[in-house]
Amino acid sequence: KSIVVFISGNGSNLQSIIDNIKNNTIKNAKIDLVVSNRSKAYGLTRAKENNIPTKILTLKKYKDENKTRLEYDLDLANLVLNNIKPDLIVLAGFMHILSSEFLDKFPNTNLINLHPALPGQFDGAEAIPRAFNAFKKGEIKHTGVMVHKVIKDVDRGEVICFEEVEIKNDDKLEHLEDRIHEVEHKLLITGINLILEDKKL
Ligand code: GRF
Repeated sequence: KSIVVFISGNGSNLQSIIDNIKNNTIKNAKIDLVVSNRSKAYGLTRAKENNIPTKILTLKKYKDENKTRLEYDLDLANLVLNNIKPDLIVLAGFMHILSSEFLDKFPNTNLINLHPALPGQFDGAEAIPRAFNAFKKGEIKHTGVMVHKVIKDVDRGEVICFEEVEIKNDDKLEHLEDRIHEVEHKLLITGINLILEDKKL
């Protein structure tokens, strides 16, 4: 099975996929390409350390050349399709909203996204600090993490799996972030295995 991983930053979730392929928790799969929309993403280093090909495409370059987001998305899709026909594209800490034109280029590929919030809560960016503030205001009792299929509505695709994450009264934001990342690194693997094993998802 061919997996392509999209990243924007640290790549701790990419690292979890690399580690879990290595220890055979994810079976007969290979990461054929890592794509980043930021040239300084540490995840690129993680990929190189594991001999995984990388590609960088930054939106800034398109803005500088007066090109559109749509051109960016189509070039991003071709970047992948010029090289491989992936079974699965995983958005792991990827901070860019993909257009429906991008999604339409992958009719036979599953696209999944890891989002550090529960289904229907805190869609979009900064989900963890927003959940933390909502907890402090007594609006929520806990938060969570989910893996969902990617559709054109941000963070709204069919949920593949999710897990609740507790917030403690004496938590500082970084404690919650660490607890959430711990859960992400495991839940993402569960989501990948569910989607790879069960074509109908
Ligand atoms: C994670 O919370 C991810 O869900 C979010 O970015 C954070 C960092 O991810 N989108 P990673 O360490 O770059 O995988």
